[in-house]
Amino acid sequence: METKKTIFSGVQPSGSLHIGNYLGAIAQWVEMQKDYNSIFCVVDYHAITVRQDPKRFGEQILDVVKTYLAAGIDPKKSIIFQQSHVTAHTELAWILNCAGARVADLNKMTQFKEKVGESKESAGVGLFDYPVLMAADILLYNTDVVPVGEDQKQHVELTRDLAKRFNNAYGEVFKIPDVKMQKEGARIMGLDDPLKKMSKSATSPANYIALTDTPEAAAKKIMRAVTDSGAEIKYDKEEKPAIANLLNIYSLLSGKNVKDLEKEFKGKGYGDFKKGLAEVVGNFLADFQKKYNQYGDKDIKDILEHGAKRARPIAEETLRRVKEKMGII
Ligand code: TYM
Repeated sequence: METKKTIFSGVQPSGSLHIGNYLGAIAQWVEMQKDYNSIFCVVDYHAITVRQDPKRFGEQILDVVKTYLAAGIDPKKSIIFQQSHVTAHTELAWILNCAGARVADLNKMTQFKEKVGESKESAGVGLFDYPVLMAADILLYNTDVVPVGEDQKQHVELTRDLAKRFNNAYGEVFKIPDVKMQKEGARIMGLDDPLKKMSKSATSPANYIALTDTPEAAAKKIMRAVTDSGAEIKYDKEEKPAIANLLNIYSLLSGKNVKDLEKEFKGKGYGDFKKGLAEVVGNFLADFQKKYNQYGDKDIKDILEHGAKRARPIAEETLRRVKEKMGII
């Protein structure tokens, strides 16, 4: 009998993936795929909530899959697929729009509020409704656990609410998923502003280290990264948010714990510390990119096609049960 639990997660193909995406999300998937039925999606319909360049969008989709593979996701163990290839996602999103989601829920979503700022009235409806599509993604696969970075926690909480609301109204269909975040790494901050998260959509590339940055480019960004007052290398999120963030990245990529790093850099300045970090990041990127560059587009398309074939029956069965409960014949 199948006793493994299921994890589901995804990344938007909306620009350069960065070490925040890796450390906050993808790195934990790699660990978890050993013990869980694992389903990893490239959420292209989420990405079109903002305008994408049609000439580059296809490539961005394939690049996310290459990132998954280079990080260590194994397509033989895990299902890797593209959201738009399984139409049940948008169908269930519509059903949840009607049977559960309220305007007041979506009005509370901090990511939406941050994204649109003052211009809410002119924001696309898709951007507003985005968390409902995310709920559909998760609920279609009877997901037990959703491994994500901290910025997605609220969306998973909404998913739980929508699932419970539907189950109460129509009868038990959906499993209620839990969120899982890394202890460290769930919120990697921007290099140019340690009070804001590292983000693909940041206006300046100085904000993030892209997984495709050359080690030299990454080193430059690190040497220019904002620091705090004082000179000590100490982990203190309140007093020294910039150094705490850099220490966090250093620790996660090197496997050394923060206390040991503080000792290693005792009496040394920010310059030495940043040089050490640049080396660790550079080694990580060089190794990652060697793997990333070995995949051809054809291999990736085959993986997506195979993934959709495996994902589709699971999603369609859930959708069938949903429709049955609602009397949609
Ligand atoms: P996305 O594409 O913005 O980000 C992908 C993953 O990276 C995490 N992340 C971070 N973690 C740590 N520090 C950061 N600075 C950082 N920035 C991003 C995100 O939390 C995420 O886990 N809505 C999702 C995609 C999605 C999804 C889903 C996820 C759609 N459907 C279903 C899980 C389940 C998103 O936009 O992630």
